[in-house]
Amino acid sequence: MTGKPVALVTGSSSGIGEAVVRRLSGAGHRVVVNSARSVEAGRKLAESLPDALYVQADIGVQAQAQRLVAAAVDHFGRLDVLVNNAGTTRRIPHQDLAGATPEIWREILDLNVIGTWQTTVAAVPHLRKSGGSVISVSSIAGSRPAGSSIPYAVSKAAIEHMTRLLAAALGPEIRVNAVAPGLIETPWTREFTDIAEHVRQSAPMRRVGLPEDVARAVHGLVGATYTTGSVVQVDGGAHLL
Ligand SMILES: NC(=O)c1ccc[n+]([C@@H]2O[C@H](COP(=O)([O-])OP(=O)(O)OC[C@H]3O[C@@H](n4cnc5c(N)ncnc54)[C@H](OP(=O)(O)O)[C@@H]3O)[C@@H](O)[C@H]2O)c1
Repeated sequence: MTGKPVALVTGSSSGIGEAVVRRLSGAGHRVVVNSARSVEAGRKLAESLPDALYVQADIGVQAQAQRLVAAAVDHFGRLDVLVNNAGTTRRIPHQDLAGATPEIWREILDLNVIGTWQTTVAAVPHLRKSGGSVISVSSIAGSRPAGSSIPYAVSKAAIEHMTRLLAAALGPEIRVNAVAPGLIETPWTREFTDIAEHVRQSAPMRRVGLPEDVARAVHGLVGATYTTGSVVQVDGGAHLL
C-alpha cells in the first residue's frame, strides 16, 4: 500500500457528508466526494481540497455503487475508509399509517439499507487489503421511537444491525461501526423547527448538533483500532430523554 489513506464518503456534497470529507481531508486522508444529483456542489468541494476526487453516482443503483468504489480505487490505488452517509427520508407523522405507502417504504429502504449494503460489498475486497474500516450514518431514530417517518426509522435500525452483523463477519481485517446523530443542522433539517426547539430545551447538551460534531465522531471511529460493531450516539444526549 502506497501513499496517504483514502476515504470515500457517500452523499458528501452537503451537510454531514461534506463535514466528514473536510475533517478527514484535514486529517491527511485523500478523499472521494460523491452525490447523485448535486454535481456542481460536489465538484466544487473536491476542487477546494487537496487530493480529492468527485464521483457522481446514485448508490441506490448497484452498478453505480460498484462504479463509485472502482473509480476511487482506480484513481488513488487503495481504499481505507468507507463512510456510508447517503440517505433519504420523507416526513410522515407516525400515526399516519396510510401515508407511509409501500412505494415510500421501498424508496427509503432501497437507498438507506440496500444502497449502504451494496456500497459496502463493493468496498470490502479493497478494505480487506488495507485493513480498513466502514462507518455508517444511522440516526437517533434507529433505536428510539422517533424520526421523520417510520420507514426512515426502520431503515436506520436496519443499518445498526447490519453494522453488528458485518463487524462479526468481517473481522479481524475490517472494522465496522456506525454513528447515530440526533438533530443536526443541515439543509435536510431546515424545516424541523419544532424538534429543534425541543432539543434546545431538554437535551443534556441544550443545543442542536452541527455537521462538524458528527464528523468528529466519524474521525474518532476511524482511529478507534479496537472498536468494532459499535453505534456511537452523536445527539447531545437526546437518546436519554
Ligand atoms: N441532519 C440530521 O439531523 C440527521 C440526523 C440523523 C441522521 N442523519 C443522516 O445523515 C445523513 C446525511 O444527512 P444530511 O442531513 O447531511 O443531508 P443532506 O445535507 O441533504 O445531504 C445528503 C447528501 O446525500 C446525497 N445523496 C442523496 N441521495 C443520494 C444517492 N442516492 N446517492 C448518492 N448520494 C446521495 C445528497 O446529494 P444529492 O441529493 O445531490 O445526490 C447529499 O450530498 C443521512 O443518512 C441522514 O439520514 C441526518
